Amino acid sequence: MCGIVGYVGKEQAAPILLDGLQRLEYRGYDSAGVAVFGPAGLQVKKSKGRLQVLKDLTHDGADLPGNLGIGHTRWATHGEPNDVNAHPQVSRSGRIAVVHNGIIENFSELKGQLLHKGYQFKSETDTEVVAQLLDYYFSQCGDMVEAVRRMLNAVEGAYALGIVSADAPDRLIAARKDAPLLLGYGEGESFIASDVTAIIRHTRDISYMEDGEMAVLTRDGITVYNEQGQPVTKKHHHVDWDIGAAEKGGYAHFMLKEIFEQPRAIREATAARLQGGRVILQDLTMTEEEIRNIGRIIIIACGSSYHVGMVGKYNLERMLRRSVEVVLASEFRYSDPIVKRGDLVIAISQSGETLDTMAALREAKKRGARILSIVNVVGSSIARESDDVLYTWAGPEIAVATTKAYSTQMAVLNMLGLYFADILGTIDRQTYSEMVRDMQRVPEYIEKILESAESIHDIAREICKSEDVFFIGRNLDYALSLEGSLKLKEISYIHSEAYASGELKHGTISLIVDGTLVIALGTYGPLFDKALSNVVEVQARGAKVLALTTQTHAEEMGRHVPMVMTIPDIHEMLLPQLGVVPLQLLAYYIALERGCDIDKPRNLAKSVTVE
Ligand code: F6R
Repeated sequence: MCGIVGYVGKEQAAPILLDGLQRLEYRGYDSAGVAVFGPAGLQVKKSKGRLQVLKDLTHDGADLPGNLGIGHTRWATHGEPNDVNAHPQVSRSGRIAVVHNGIIENFSELKGQLLHKGYQFKSETDTEVVAQLLDYYFSQCGDMVEAVRRMLNAVEGAYALGIVSADAPDRLIAARKDAPLLLGYGEGESFIASDVTAIIRHTRDISYMEDGEMAVLTRDGITVYNEQGQPVTKKHHHVDWDIGAAEKGGYAHFMLKEIFEQPRAIREATAARLQGGRVILQDLTMTEEEIRNIGRIIIIACGSSYHVGMVGKYNLERMLRRSVEVVLASEFRYSDPIVKRGDLVIAISQSGETLDTMAALREAKKRGARILSIVNVVGSSIARESDDVLYTWAGPEIAVATTKAYSTQMAVLNMLGLYFADILGTIDRQTYSEMVRDMQRVPEYIEKILESAESIHDIAREICKSEDVFFIGRNLDYALSLEGSLKLKEISYIHSEAYASGELKHGTISLIVDGTLVIALGTYGPLFDKALSNVVEVQARGAKVLALTTQTHAEEMGRHVPMVMTIPDIHEMLLPQLGVVPLQLLAYYIALERGCDIDKPRNLAKSVTVE
């Protein structure tokens, strides 16, 4: 949802900015731009399209000498993706350039006021208003930092901003409210970035900006001010993951690499938490008494994280013998939710920055709920605003379509369920022990599934021309079908829907005609017979069926269905942990066969920080 990066120091800024943007491109890829201050003054280059266009335009940055600059990769919200609407946006004097992630909600009102003062606008963006407002305030006070302060008082909405000005050529100014922004501290150089991948080549010493803060960066250091204009001391964090984690490392796409990273990621998420046959959640601050006194349990999330919540609903209800609600964060926030003190709201988010999840979390918190989040990105907004955080430790996820984050979220939610169930006494010893044992086997079983990637590629070649697909399943297979269907449609652009098999007869089956592709999930043992009868039912209407089942049922399924994908047997509640992997591979290979831009599907961005 737009990526921003900024640099001030002794090196040439442009190549550092372009390299940073390359790593942020997953956040938006409609257009890209940079502004660099150097001997030629403030130079701005931007263009519609992928970053490569900008790189070619600037000869990899060589055309833009200078040691201070900002860069942006855009996911359009206000104004179509074109050269003019690309960032940086520049003030009328041509002396101030701004990059922005977020939305300025009162931009039309501010624009009206500026038009009245004789300002003219070139773009349709809300960000240009910021640049022109700065121009106006600077003309009034003659001080860039003060102009930024006044501008921040005037704008409403969400922003991560990077600002450079020819009138303050030794500094970069940044501000944050409801959009991610971090600061990087180097030797004689300072950075801003939407996420750490953009600057990790240069520094591992970072701090996270808080809402309402403004930062002034020079090559000698960074000063951060709170909303009241007082300097604040920031807590520094050391980023210790390997830079290779943010690179493709020989894989054709980040998505494929991240699918193959799942065994390692799940080991990372579970190893320290599964010990001596028990679940140990040292990072949870809730006391046993607080757990016993939990009121309602509500899971809030968006997209694939919501699908993890759906799996969680089945499993947690089974383990805890109490009702668990799963609500889309975008619906929850406006539903005047019935939440009160003592209720537990579990927020699930890879990025930790999804605006709807953040807003839902705040709504629940306001009403007294305790917030426990399951988050991947350390130090992200959702993590910081939660009472408890269980990190998924999946490492950076770059492909827009989530894979390893989904799997690790599920692992963490399952462990949380077991942990609560043990305290509440709602699970028998045997099930508890089997679950712990099988959770530890998940990585090894996924490795086995990954060995069969080529056979899934063969299936993908057979079915990649389908234009409509129906995923069906019951119980946990239904929850899994939601994710399988989303994965396929978002990267291959094939129309795909997921249905609870039992619902087919209530309408959808009328869409099944000769040759319609149905992907039937039949991994969940207790309902295998039902899954089989649904397969027979759709086949009778002409459907071409691809099935997913366990080794135990593979032979029987194979008697009815020509194409079968198989996963190892495991505890029922853990089947989606394995079942998702062939579905991810299938989506990947189908998209590959269709020549799609897998890591950057059209119209999407990795971190959705706008509504
Ligand atoms: C789909 C996908 C999205 C995200 C959703 C929530 O592959 O990645 O549906 O799951 O945008 O994002 P997070 O988990 O960052 O809150």
